Amino acid sequence: MHFLITAGPTREPLDPVRFLSNRSSGRMGYALAEAALAAGHAVTLVSGPVALPVPAGANRVRIETAREMFEAVRDAIGGCDVAIFCAAVADYRPVATAEHKLKKSGDRLVLELEPTEDILGSARSVFGFRGYLVGFAAETERLVEHAQGKLMRKGCDLMIANDVARPGIGFDSDENEVILCLPGGSTRALPRQSKKDLARELVAFIASAA
Ligand code: CTP
Repeated sequence: MHFLITAGPTREPLDPVRFLSNRSSGRMGYALAEAALAAGHAVTLVSGPVALPVPAGANRVRIETAREMFEAVRDAIGGCDVAIFCAAVADYRPVATAEHKLKKSGDRLVLELEPTEDILGSARSVFGFRGYLVGFAAETERLVEHAQGKLMRKGCDLMIANDVARPGIGFDSDENEVILCLPGGSTRALPRQSKKDLARELVAFIASAA
Protein backbone atom coordinates (compact mmCIF):
# COMPACT_ATOMS: atom_id res chain seq x y z
CA MET A 1 0.00 0.00 0.00
CA HIS A 2 1.01 3.62 -0.38
CA PHE A 3 0.99 5.67 2.83
CA LEU A 4 0.84 9.47 2.94
CA ILE A 5 2.06 10.75 6.30
CA THR A 6 2.21 14.37 7.48
CA ALA A 7 4.69 15.15 10.25
CA GLY A 8 6.29 17.89 12.28
CA PRO A 9 5.29 21.49 12.90
CA THR A 10 4.48 24.22 10.44
CA ARG A 11 6.02 27.69 10.55
CA GLU A 12 3.91 30.74 9.83
CA PRO A 13 6.15 33.74 9.08
CA LEU A 14 5.72 37.15 10.72
CA ASP A 15 8.66 38.73 8.92
CA PRO A 16 11.85 37.43 7.25
CA VAL A 17 13.33 36.22 10.55
CA ARG A 18 10.37 35.35 12.80
CA PHE A 19 7.57 32.79 12.73
CA LEU A 20 4.77 31.24 14.80
CA SER A 21 5.26 27.52 15.37
CA ASN A 22 4.90 24.79 18.02
CA ARG A 23 6.87 22.13 19.91
CA SER A 24 6.27 19.21 17.55
CA SER A 25 9.50 17.25 17.00
CA GLY A 26 8.14 15.12 14.14
CA ARG A 27 9.17 11.93 15.95
CA MET A 28 5.75 10.23 15.86
CA GLY A 29 5.28 10.89 12.13
CA TYR A 30 8.81 9.81 11.25
CA ALA A 31 8.42 6.65 13.38
CA LEU A 32 5.19 5.89 11.48
CA ALA A 33 7.03 6.39 8.17
CA GLU A 34 9.81 4.02 9.25
CA ALA A 35 7.33 1.41 10.48
CA ALA A 36 5.34 1.58 7.24
CA LEU A 37 8.51 1.22 5.15
CA ALA A 38 9.70 -1.71 7.30
CA ALA A 39 6.34 -3.40 6.68
CA GLY A 40 6.91 -3.09 2.92
CA HIS A 41 4.69 -0.10 2.15
CA ALA A 42 5.56 2.95 0.01
CA VAL A 43 5.68 6.23 1.94
CA THR A 44 5.27 9.87 0.98
CA LEU A 45 6.23 11.95 4.02
CA VAL A 46 5.09 15.57 3.93
CA SER A 47 7.15 17.19 6.65
CA GLY A 48 7.60 20.51 8.36
CA PRO A 49 11.05 21.55 9.63
CA VAL A 50 12.44 18.85 11.95
CA ALA A 51 15.90 17.66 13.02
CA LEU A 52 15.40 14.06 11.92
CA PRO A 53 17.00 12.08 9.07
CA VAL A 54 14.84 11.09 6.09
CA PRO A 55 13.72 7.46 6.60
CA ALA A 56 15.49 5.35 3.94
CA GLY A 57 13.15 4.78 1.02
CA ALA A 58 10.66 7.53 1.90
CA ASN A 59 9.71 10.22 -0.56
CA ARG A 60 10.03 13.23 1.74
CA VAL A 61 8.40 16.47 0.65
CA ARG A 62 9.62 19.41 2.73
CA ILE A 63 7.27 22.27 3.53
CA GLU A 64 7.24 25.18 5.97
CA THR A 65 3.76 26.69 6.12
CA ALA A 66 0.29 25.20 6.53
CA ARG A 67 -0.56 26.42 3.02
CA GLU A 68 2.48 24.60 1.59
CA MET A 69 1.49 21.43 3.49
CA PHE A 70 -2.06 21.76 2.14
CA GLU A 71 -0.73 21.98 -1.44
CA ALA A 72 1.75 19.11 -1.02
CA VAL A 73 -0.98 16.85 0.43
CA ARG A 74 -3.44 17.89 -2.29
CA ASP A 75 -0.87 16.92 -4.94
CA ALA A 76 0.10 13.56 -3.38
CA ILE A 77 -3.03 12.13 -1.75
CA GLY A 78 -4.71 10.89 -4.94
CA GLY A 79 -2.15 8.10 -5.34
CA CYS A 80 -2.36 6.91 -1.74
CA ASP A 81 -4.32 4.14 -0.01
CA VAL A 82 -3.79 5.39 3.55
CA ALA A 83 -3.33 8.96 4.81
CA ILE A 84 -2.13 9.61 8.36
CA PHE A 85 -2.20 13.24 9.53
CA CYS A 86 0.34 13.43 12.31
CA ALA A 87 1.59 16.99 11.71
CA ALA A 88 0.99 19.74 14.25
CA VAL A 89 -0.39 22.25 11.78
CA ALA A 90 -0.75 25.85 12.93
CA ASP A 91 -4.44 26.71 13.21
CA TYR A 92 -3.72 30.42 12.58
CA ARG A 93 -1.21 32.44 10.59
CA PRO A 94 -0.41 36.16 10.57
CA VAL A 95 -2.73 38.01 8.19
CA ALA A 96 0.28 39.86 6.82
CA THR A 97 3.94 38.88 6.57
CA ALA A 98 6.19 41.94 6.79
CA GLU A 99 8.64 42.27 3.92
CA HIS A 100 11.31 43.64 6.24
CA LYS A 101 12.20 42.74 9.81
CA LEU A 102 9.69 44.28 12.20
CA LYS A 103 11.29 47.04 14.23
CA LYS A 104 10.83 47.32 17.95
CA SER A 105 8.95 50.29 19.31
CA GLY A 106 7.87 51.16 22.82
CA ASP A 107 4.25 50.47 21.97
CA ARG A 108 2.29 47.30 22.46
CA LEU A 109 2.26 45.09 19.35
CA VAL A 110 -1.00 43.33 18.41
CA LEU A 111 -0.81 40.46 15.91
CA GLU A 112 -3.75 39.82 13.63
CA LEU A 113 -4.19 36.13 12.73
CA GLU A 114 -6.38 34.29 10.26
CA PRO A 115 -7.29 30.59 10.11
CA THR A 116 -5.09 28.26 8.06
CA GLU A 117 -6.44 25.52 5.80
CA ASP A 118 -7.74 22.47 7.71
CA ILE A 119 -5.78 19.85 5.77
CA LEU A 120 -7.26 16.75 7.41
CA GLY A 121 -10.70 18.33 7.15
CA SER A 122 -10.12 18.79 3.40
CA ALA A 123 -9.12 15.18 2.70
CA ARG A 124 -12.64 13.94 1.99
CA SER A 125 -14.48 17.15 1.10
CA VAL A 126 -11.89 18.99 -1.04
CA PHE A 127 -9.40 16.33 -2.21
CA GLY A 128 -12.00 13.56 -2.63
CA PHE A 129 -9.81 11.02 -0.81
CA ARG A 130 -11.50 7.62 -0.57
CA GLY A 131 -8.77 5.65 1.20
CA TYR A 132 -8.24 4.94 4.90
CA LEU A 133 -8.06 8.27 6.73
CA VAL A 134 -6.32 8.68 10.08
CA GLY A 135 -6.08 11.78 12.27
CA PHE A 136 -4.39 12.59 15.55
CA ALA A 137 -6.24 14.50 18.24
CA ALA A 138 -4.06 16.31 20.75
CA GLU A 139 -6.25 17.24 23.70
CA THR A 140 -5.83 18.53 27.22
CA GLU A 141 -9.32 17.63 28.51
CA ARG A 142 -12.27 15.35 27.64
CA LEU A 143 -9.94 13.36 25.41
CA VAL A 144 -12.26 10.74 23.91
CA GLU A 145 -15.24 13.09 23.55
CA HIS A 146 -13.20 15.66 21.61
CA ALA A 147 -11.46 12.98 19.53
CA GLN A 148 -14.79 11.35 18.59
CA GLY A 149 -16.09 14.76 17.50
CA LYS A 150 -13.08 15.30 15.24
CA LEU A 151 -13.39 11.76 13.84
CA MET A 152 -16.96 12.46 12.74
CA ARG A 153 -16.42 16.04 11.53
CA LYS A 154 -13.41 15.17 9.38
CA GLY A 155 -14.73 11.87 7.99
CA CYS A 156 -11.91 9.76 9.45
CA ASP A 157 -11.72 5.98 9.80
CA LEU A 158 -9.52 6.27 12.88
CA MET A 159 -8.66 9.08 15.30
CA ILE A 160 -5.62 8.57 17.51
CA ALA A 161 -6.13 10.56 20.70
CA ASN A 162 -3.42 11.63 23.07
CA ASP A 163 -3.51 13.70 26.21
CA VAL A 164 -0.91 16.42 25.67
CA ALA A 165 -1.36 17.81 29.19
CA ARG A 166 0.43 14.78 30.66
CA PRO A 167 4.21 15.11 31.00
CA GLY A 168 6.46 12.57 29.25
CA ILE A 169 4.13 11.62 26.42
CA GLY A 170 3.07 13.19 23.16
CA PHE A 171 4.55 16.50 22.06
CA ASP A 172 8.35 16.53 21.89
CA SER A 173 8.66 13.27 23.89
CA ASP A 174 10.13 9.85 23.07
CA GLU A 175 7.05 8.06 24.33
CA ASN A 176 3.37 8.19 23.64
CA GLU A 177 0.19 6.69 25.06
CA VAL A 178 -2.91 6.88 22.90
CA ILE A 179 -6.53 5.83 22.67
CA LEU A 180 -7.80 4.64 19.29
CA CYS A 181 -11.24 6.11 18.52
CA LEU A 182 -13.30 4.39 15.84
CA PRO A 183 -16.51 5.27 14.01
CA GLY A 184 -19.50 4.08 16.03
CA GLY A 185 -17.90 5.17 19.28
CA SER A 186 -15.72 2.20 20.17
CA THR A 187 -12.29 2.87 21.66
CA ARG A 188 -9.13 0.91 22.35
CA ALA A 189 -6.42 2.12 24.74
CA LEU A 190 -2.82 1.29 23.87
CA PRO A 191 -0.26 1.23 26.69
CA ARG A 192 2.47 3.84 27.11
CA GLN A 193 5.44 2.86 24.94
CA SER A 194 8.17 4.30 22.75
CA LYS A 195 6.98 6.10 19.63
CA LYS A 196 8.83 3.49 17.54
CA ASP A 197 6.97 0.55 19.14
CA LEU A 198 3.68 2.41 19.01
CA ALA A 199 4.25 3.22 15.33
CA ARG A 200 4.75 -0.47 14.55
CA GLU A 201 1.50 -1.34 16.32
CA LEU A 202 -0.40 1.47 14.60
CA VAL A 203 0.86 0.56 11.13
CA ALA A 204 -0.14 -3.09 11.67
CA PHE A 205 -3.60 -2.02 12.88
CA ILE A 206 -4.11 0.42 10.00
CA ALA A 207 -2.82 -1.97 7.30
CA SER A 208 -5.22 -4.69 8.47
CA ALA A 209 -8.16 -2.29 8.67
CA ALA A 210 -7.52 -0.40 5.40
N1 CTP B 1 -4.83 19.17 11.13
C1 CTP B 1 -4.67 19.51 9.81
N2 CTP B 1 -4.72 20.82 9.42
C2 CTP B 1 -4.91 21.80 10.33
C3 CTP B 1 -5.08 21.48 11.69
C4 CTP B 1 -5.03 20.15 12.07
O1 CTP B 1 -4.49 18.61 8.97
N3 CTP B 1 -4.93 23.07 9.92
C5 CTP B 1 -4.86 17.76 11.51
C6 CTP B 1 -3.76 17.31 12.45
O2 CTP B 1 -2.65 16.81 11.74
C7 CTP B 1 -4.45 16.22 13.25
C8 CTP B 1 -5.88 16.63 13.27
O3 CTP B 1 -6.06 17.54 12.20
O4 CTP B 1 -4.40 14.97 12.60
C9 CTP B 1 -6.40 17.25 14.53
O5 CTP B 1 -5.61 18.34 14.86
P1 CTP B 1 -5.99 19.23 16.10
O6 CTP B 1 -5.10 20.42 16.15
O7 CTP B 1 -6.08 18.35 17.33
O8 CTP B 1 -7.50 19.60 15.70
P2 CTP B 1 -8.23 20.89 15.27
O9 CTP B 1 -9.27 20.49 14.28
O10 CTP B 1 -7.26 21.96 14.89
O11 CTP B 1 -9.02 21.22 16.60
P3 CTP B 1 -8.63 22.09 17.89
O12 CTP B 1 -7.30 22.75 17.62
O13 CTP B 1 -9.78 23.02 18.02
O14 CTP B 1 -8.57 21.09 19.03
